[in-house]
Amino acid sequence: MVNFKELGLVNTRDMFAKAIKGGYAIPAFNFNNMEQLQAIIKASAETKSPVILQVSKGARNYANQTLLRYMAQGAVEYAKELGWEKPQIVLHLDHGDSFELCKSCVDFGFSSVMIDASHLPYEENIALTKKVVDYAHQYDVTVEAELGVLAGVEDEVSSAVSHYTKPEEVVDFATRTGCDSLAISIGTSHGAYKFTPEQCTRDPKTGKLVPPPLAFDVLDAIMEQLPGFPIVLHGSSSVPQEYVDMINATGGKLPDAVGIPEEQLRKASESAVCKINIDSDSRLAFTAAVRKVFTEKPGEFDPRKYCGPARDLMEELYKHKIVNVLGSNGKAE
Ligand code: G3H
Ligand code: 13P
Ligand code: ZN
Repeated sequence: MVNFKELGLVNTRDMFAKAIKGGYAIPAFNFNNMEQLQAIIKASAETKSPVILQVSKGARNYANQTLLRYMAQGAVEYAKELGWEKPQIVLHLDHGDSFELCKSCVDFGFSSVMIDASHLPYEENIALTKKVVDYAHQYDVTVEAELGVLAGVEDEVSSAVSHYTKPEEVVDFATRTGCDSLAISIGTSHGAYKFTPEQCTRDPKTGKLVPPPLAFDVLDAIMEQLPGFPIVLHGSSSVPQEYVDMINATGGKLPDAVGIPEEQLRKASESAVCKINIDSDSRLAFTAAVRKVFTEKPGEFDPRKYCGPARDLMEELYKHKIVNVLGSNGKAE
């Protein structure tokens, strides 16, 4: 058993309370490899932004959980080396799908876990979430739960359509489970294809797809029911057109990829939404940069020569999100 405090990590409790008061959101960036982690830490240290490092079940399988934990511990030291005296870094399990997985993460040094039982019937979601909360809180590990279903793929949990969170359920759910934050469904979804072309309109000038707005009325109703309660948005990549264009121009195939416009995420950040999950944008940046090197220098075979530019582009992306979208810069001086 390792407690997250021994690793220099923090849980989300104070971070979220400050973010809600201050009208900004904490970035939750997924990582699977060293370059992503380096870029996240550099961007957070240079902007003095609190940050949540997210590990999915898939990331644990890909990278090995022991290695990921030591990487997170190393990230705290790296942040200090970069001149960030008191790094505020959370190690979070993204989309935990069982009590056993959440328990293993708590026991293994994670400071926050998500139990995603949103696909289960309501009472079963409550029972499983409460079981995780009761365990995690013994070690001061904070717990994110989910109510409502996002369209798209949530690790191994998939749904063809989204079911918005029902505002009339949130008080009962939060009270009975004791969860620390709640992921809600208001129209975001995972991946680079968040909306079908049929759900969008076309900008007559650029011909680009314009997605429908998020259901801010549902968010407002939830906040009215649970004033000041930490709300989480999953599926919040914006799918930057420049990365999609770079990928398509170098032989990739991402037709009609579309994300959440950044203005809407900025607006959400000013509300009780205090954690915004971004994974796909980093994948797109990485892929765009690697493809560019392969296209321009077909003889290159030193991974540092293409992972390095990928790391640089991701760092630029993370800084942009922190400073221009979430407003978390300078909040962890
Ligand atoms: O919500 C899902 C995250 O983007 C993680 O994706 O399961 O492919 O690692 P993954
Ligand atoms: P994106 O696919 O929009 O980046 O969402 C990531 C996410 O919600 C991770 O839990
Ligand atoms: Zn998610």
